[in-house]
Amino acid sequence: MKKQYFTLLLALISVSLFSQNELIIPGTITSTDINLTLQNGTHEFFAGETTATMGVNGNILGPTLILNQGENLNINVTNNLGEETTIHWHGLHVSAENDGGPHTIIDPGAIWNPQFTVLNKAATYWYHPHLLDVTDEHASKGIAGFIIIKDADEAALDLPRTYGVDDIPLAVQTKDFDANFQIVNHANNDDTVMVNATVNPETDVPAQIVRLRLLNGSSQRVFNFGFSGNMTFYQIATDGGLKEAPMALTRLLLAPGERSEILVDLNGMNGQTIQLMSYASEFPNGIYGATNPGMGAGMTMDDYNPNPLNGADFNILQLNVVPQTANPVTTIPTSLVDQNPYLESDSDQARTFTMQPDTSGPTQLNGTFNINGVSMDMSIINVTIPLDNTEIWTVQNSSGISHPFHVHDVQFYILDINGNPPPASAQGWKDTYLVPSGGGTMRFITKFEDFADDTVPYMYHCHMLTHEDTGMMGQFVVVDVLGLNDFEKNDDLLLYPNPSEGVYMTMQLKDVSETIQSYAIINELGQIVSYYKIHSNEISNKFSFPIHELASGKYFIKVYTETKIITKNFIVKN
Ligand code: C2O
Ligand code: CU
Ligand code: CU
Repeated sequence: MKKQYFTLLLALISVSLFSQNELIIPGTITSTDINLTLQNGTHEFFAGETTATMGVNGNILGPTLILNQGENLNINVTNNLGEETTIHWHGLHVSAENDGGPHTIIDPGAIWNPQFTVLNKAATYWYHPHLLDVTDEHASKGIAGFIIIKDADEAALDLPRTYGVDDIPLAVQTKDFDANFQIVNHANNDDTVMVNATVNPETDVPAQIVRLRLLNGSSQRVFNFGFSGNMTFYQIATDGGLKEAPMALTRLLLAPGERSEILVDLNGMNGQTIQLMSYASEFPNGIYGATNPGMGAGMTMDDYNPNPLNGADFNILQLNVVPQTANPVTTIPTSLVDQNPYLESDSDQARTFTMQPDTSGPTQLNGTFNINGVSMDMSIINVTIPLDNTEIWTVQNSSGISHPFHVHDVQFYILDINGNPPPASAQGWKDTYLVPSGGGTMRFITKFEDFADDTVPYMYHCHMLTHEDTGMMGQFVVVDVLGLNDFEKNDDLLLYPNPSEGVYMTMQLKDVSETIQSYAIINELGQIVSYYKIHSNEISNKFSFPIHELASGKYFIKVYTETKIITKNFIVKN
């Protein structure tokens, strides 16, 4: 019997005989001292069948890291996998050496100790391995976890935030299992759907406003999320932040790597059952998940069909509505946060990235693919970006399948897709987005700030892990070109917000045992415009300094600690 029919049969049997499985909710870590141990394990995706897995602090997936903006983290990642890997904080704005890309290898038995300040806005992020060539293997075997960031703007809103009760993380994945129930990587026959490593999941949700944090953690598959009965839901956050206002939707397309937070209004629905689904029958061809993955006639992928998930609507998670909790949130907020997107007129540089197949023709979808004609090479820096550059990137897709383009270090704003404004669901901070096949384009604007490193690169790549692993990735460094080479590397000092149009800017030393003694602000002509010695009662590793009297422009700040002088630049927009 062909394996996919067997799996389908198994799914039908488990629906009818064993009913659903209780959704696994990952545990949490709320401390700023974070210990993560990567380990091999086993997991029963199917009753009675043992599957070899990889997990973090457990057999499968990893704990959800619940972080607050401004916190200083001390993370220990212990690699007990018996092989090399890396851990990348997808969506986080951290220095290249803390980013966990392919260069930051954790040897078997070794401990990696990144330390950084949480600078991102409140939203849902995630972590996963990123070792060259084996990202799919390590991620699809189970290494992936959520990162939930909170900040003051989010805390001021009346939103559900009781983890696992009315605020539920949902890592939606499809995987392929072989006849022995073992996970196959780089597979195009991913016919098993799971949420948080639970196949046929169900969970109780209270009859009030419930927040779902959706992550497409699949290796390749795109989902067209919606609910049974076409129930309206409200998108409140994109990849890297809350939206300006909740966006009423009935469908939400998320490609691998993308996240969205949504609110569902379950008031008055106690006792009812609804399904979170993917309406993949609505996909045009040319998307992994449609009937045909390629848009061109006859273009297909090995092992792609038959698969009951391709081009069909299917259930992802059953939600059983139960009585309200104490103090429920019962209304959808009317507005969320202010967003100040970068202005096209502020762009310093435009770049173009073209995603293309290495060989054209009807078999092109089997790969490999490249970006700008070159394949990933660890020893080549493809792009060098001056620190503090605001840039517009045009990402073109001249292949027959849509690819989710992801950039490390930054969150971006989409300017247009195929020349039109992005769909409402893609308005807001993004770090990954599906670029349409067959000549499609995405233009976005972003800014490369705070972290410069001449040697350790960040990545940009397709987030279909098979494509990433087979070369559809490039490297960029952000370099400080302002003649500051004489000064100490400035990763030790954070300045935020930067640029600022506000009254104060905050400086913060990464090393919490160091303190700020004094500082000088220097203009572009090298003139000291102010000098301040910190009063003894204000001495700490953090200090907010006034900037409202500075004229608009670029400045340097020299910060004197007990042991050194750190120089960094900032921009005032008054
Ligand atoms: Cu989610 Cu470069 O990765
Ligand atoms: Cu990433
Ligand atoms: Cu791709």
